[in-house]
Amino acid sequence: MTEAVLVTHRLPAGVSMRSGWETWPGEGPMPRGELLSRVADLDGLLCMLVDGIDDELIDTGKKLRVISQMAVGVDNVDLESATAAGIPVGHTPDVLTETTADTAFALLGAAVRRIPEGQRDLREGRVGEWDPDYLLGGDLWGTVLGVVGLGRIGKAVTRRAKGFGMDVLYSGRAPRETDLGAVFADFDTLLAEADHIVLTAPLTPATRHMINRESLARLKDGATLVNVARGGLVDHEALAEAAATGRIRVALDVTEPEPLPRDHALLAMDNVLVIPHLGSASVRTRAAMAELAIANLEAGLRREPLPACANPEVYSQWSGG
Ligand code: DGY
Repeated sequence: MTEAVLVTHRLPAGVSMRSGWETWPGEGPMPRGELLSRVADLDGLLCMLVDGIDDELIDTGKKLRVISQMAVGVDNVDLESATAAGIPVGHTPDVLTETTADTAFALLGAAVRRIPEGQRDLREGRVGEWDPDYLLGGDLWGTVLGVVGLGRIGKAVTRRAKGFGMDVLYSGRAPRETDLGAVFADFDTLLAEADHIVLTAPLTPATRHMINRESLARLKDGATLVNVARGGLVDHEALAEAAATGRIRVALDVTEPEPLPRDHALLAMDNVLVIPHLGSASVRTRAAMAELAIANLEAGLRREPLPACANPEVYSQWSGG
């Protein structure tokens, strides 16, 4: 008997879907009502970070053997409910680490060296003769980078920073053994001492709005804040206020909400660069993410441990019963 599998969004071109699996044919995220009305019949669900996989949905999916998300971050999935229901949740770590770190560095370099402003001026015919005082920015070399969350992506960002001649501070729950030459600092010290900060921490209740009015006030004048993790780490109202003073530079891959409305204050500021969640958006990496999501789903259907599981504690429940 073929299992019922639903994929909530078309997978990247070139990734071959398994026969018998169904893909939601609509444009954009699958409407929640549709997903809710279908989930009771599903053995497997391959979802995206825009799908709200909450307690109600998991409870309705009584037959579900596996939920496989094509992303590393699973803050949109109620992991506790999935574990309680004995459902493993797959995700896609490792395969997107380097690409996301590349994006973080592209954003950092572009913001610090004012690349988007230069392009805007050229396009708008606002550039005259070469001027020694025109669009002066900061430097990467010889500065201190603060990495918030030294996980896989934070480490990959650190390696890049070292290649650029930067010193690196990192914060997190506890110091980590690394040979990367990054120095542990508490969050407040990192905010006060870093010239540039990259957020790579996961979104959890503890990290939600960790960048708020108070933390923004601690940043150095001229500091750059880059977010490639989740928009929810940052209080965007406070961020817009801080950026409006011109005291800091900001570069965001992720925002809250996504996308930011066109009339959002941050989109009108020259010292703010925003891109629409492109952290892992290379052809090679998106294909690798899709392949890993498929492999996770297939393992879950076979009732085998997933190649990458976000709630491995679920397995003890399997053996127990
Ligand atoms: C993830 O995988 O969590 C990323 O945000 C996708 O780009």
